[in-house]
Amino acid sequence: MCGIVGVLGRHEVSPGILEALRRLEYRGYDSAGIATVNNGVLDRRRAVGKLVNLSDVLVHTPLPGKSGIGHTRWATHGAATEDNAHPHLAGRVAVVHNGIIENFRALRAELAAEGIAHQTQTDTETVALLTALHLDRGMTPVAAARATLARLEGAFALAFLFAGEDDLMIAARRGSPLAIGHGVGEMYLGSDALALAPLTDQITYLEEGDHAILTRAGVTVFDAGGAAVQRGVATIRLDAAAADKSGHRHFMAKEMAQQPAILRAALAAYTDATGTALALPEGAGFDGVDRVTLVACGTGFYACQVAKYWFEQIAGLPADIDIASEFRYRAPVLSPHSMAVFVSQSGETADTLAALRHVQGKVARTLGVVNVPTSSIARETDVALPILAGPEISVASTKGFTAQLQVLMLLALQAGVDRGRLTPAALADHLSALRALPGLINQALDREGQMRDIARHLAEARDILFLGRGTMYPLALEGALKLKELSYIHAEGYAAGELKHGPIALIDQHVPVVVLAPHDALFDKTLSNMQEVMARQGQVFLIADARTLAAAGEVTHSLTMPEVPPLLAPILYAIPAQMLAYHTALFRGTDVDQPRNLAKSVTVE
Ligand code: F6R
Repeated sequence: MCGIVGVLGRHEVSPGILEALRRLEYRGYDSAGIATVNNGVLDRRRAVGKLVNLSDVLVHTPLPGKSGIGHTRWATHGAATEDNAHPHLAGRVAVVHNGIIENFRALRAELAAEGIAHQTQTDTETVALLTALHLDRGMTPVAAARATLARLEGAFALAFLFAGEDDLMIAARRGSPLAIGHGVGEMYLGSDALALAPLTDQITYLEEGDHAILTRAGVTVFDAGGAAVQRGVATIRLDAAAADKSGHRHFMAKEMAQQPAILRAALAAYTDATGTALALPEGAGFDGVDRVTLVACGTGFYACQVAKYWFEQIAGLPADIDIASEFRYRAPVLSPHSMAVFVSQSGETADTLAALRHVQGKVARTLGVVNVPTSSIARETDVALPILAGPEISVASTKGFTAQLQVLMLLALQAGVDRGRLTPAALADHLSALRALPGLINQALDREGQMRDIARHLAEARDILFLGRGTMYPLALEGALKLKELSYIHAEGYAAGELKHGPIALIDQHVPVVVLAPHDALFDKTLSNMQEVMARQGQVFLIADARTLAAAGEVTHSLTMPEVPPLLAPILYAIPAQMLAYHTALFRGTDVDQPRNLAKSVTVE
């Protein structure tokens, strides 16, 4: 969370920093700010709320300077006020920060004992004040930053800019990612390479514990032990258009529409030339593996929950699933022969990364199902399996979810092959069904008008329930999560059979119940649960294929989905889960791409 940018430029830097921050706004949008050094003098502009507010401030009070740092904030310590907005200034230093300084209270007390008062509630100001103290005591900027870094505990990325130092920026990475960009006579810094895409495609990733000294002539990187190290420069092919809406009203709309093409391309990448056999990266096999443990947060966790059904059903492989924030705080019993799979769109989610580190050395292999191939999880797992969805900008995950699901299905198929549960012919059939899926998703996307009609009703509700059985249960959870995060309407997902064990008490004529029921082995049981809702005047919105609908009789509303092989239904039924949330949010007038209080990359615990 929070996005960091830095530029040592040849021209005015504020416009470039603003554009880079725009590309990082998915990481937080509680406030934003920029600081520059101009003729040796540090100055800053900050504004609460979206970046557009900072942009307005800069129009009225421009911020000159050829070196600068910028920040877009997701508040952790201290409310979203201008005082708490970054950059934080203290004496001769300005600091931007992503992450949490865990020992900031102790440091605050130390500074207070020196007679140094804080003006804000943030942990970042503590970093600035400590560095300023070191400078006042005669240290050079580099020594002062290093002395500060040595005192900090927690997971963070930091950038420092100094008064009187027009050609110096210091960056540090401990837990949160940082990319250094190389230009011609210019150097850049960003929380991710996408932020820097309009400026450069030459990127150096800092490793865990690194700090870097940047000047316009280049960068020197030091590892956690303080030794100067070489970190390679990679050419990152990032489509600068990835951060555009490409004619869509929202990033979310664009990303939903991209799903068929993404799934098709990813499937081709992970199958052989004949399309009948798998071609997963080396190390993604299951020989000798006795269990799979899947760990993720949020939407990624629901993908894992679906995958549990697949691993068990297709491969007969025991599968455990865990929410990453819970995983390492209990005593998970891990088999040394197990494969641990970490699913994360960003590849930077703090809890998922910590869970990965927790199992290292305790399992046979770790595997990262990630979207960002250069992310921490991709780099720290034994095998990275990119989902190949391209940058996901909408804070609510859509294409990330379906692309995760497809890759997890391929892994389950691989397990089925390796464990002798799938014949080559059966595998070829599954792959052929997957190849047909983008066509079905297109048909579902074409039913947007019907989904909008349902959403019009949902937008009136105060509480909404989603029900499903089998793999539709995690889809019910995903539908409810998407709806609440986008429309702020309270929504819950339940296993349809659980309804009568409590939640049915919520049902009355005001509570819409969205029922997901493809024609699978359990559809008639789901329909019975639906009848229980209707008997209590609940409004049912049945999302199902024609065969289920024919069996269902009268319901309040229905959406006819294409027929799909039951195993693949979770990928197809993600479309209505996403679309209902999207259109409900539009009816409610909420901010679809940047819902309140959220951030895309959750790099704090
Ligand atoms: C919901 C959503 C979140 C993320 C979660 C994990 O729409 O996007 O629940 O799925 O924060 O993020 P990643 O996958 O980046 O680890």
